[in-house]
Amino acid sequence: MDIKLIQLQSHGDERGSLVSLEEEKNIPFSIKRVYYVFNTKDKVRRGFHAHKKLKQLAIVVKGSCRFLLDDGNEKIEVLLDNPAQGLYIESFVWREMFDFSEDCVLMVLADSIYDETDYVRDYEEFTKMVKHDS
Ligand code: TYD
Repeated sequence: MDIKLIQLQSHGDERGSLVSLEEEKNIPFSIKRVYYVFNTKDKVRRGFHAHKKLKQLAIVVKGSCRFLLDDGNEKIEVLLDNPAQGLYIESFVWREMFDFSEDCVLMVLADSIYDETDYVRDYEEFTKMVKHDS
């Protein structure tokens, strides 16, 4: 599956911790967009899409949530609960996010600006596209 957990260096001292994100360094692409999801209500599940081109890196900067990742062949679940860990997701990976803690702030870096035409929001269509690709 085209995903990777990236350990980000945390600069900790007696004052606390700091993580720096730099394009083409610890982030494996050039950052065109940042968005974040917060105040997520109890039992909400979101996502339910894949992307044709977009690459993204998700960091839970506060709290925790789970990702279901599916490339059409296998499904895996990843718990994000560490602000010094990034989940890199390539294109053509179906994702759903769930089990958000009340305090969860999920930040996502993306290699392109928002483009609805890059989304695949129909799961049947997604499975056909990845079968066609392989
Ligand atoms: P949505 O795709 O439903 O989010 P998720 O994948 O987390 O379930 O996005 C919610 C709304 O925000 C939708 O109207 C599109 C809009 N949006 C933007 O305007 N810019 C963005 O970068 C993103 C990710 C979403």
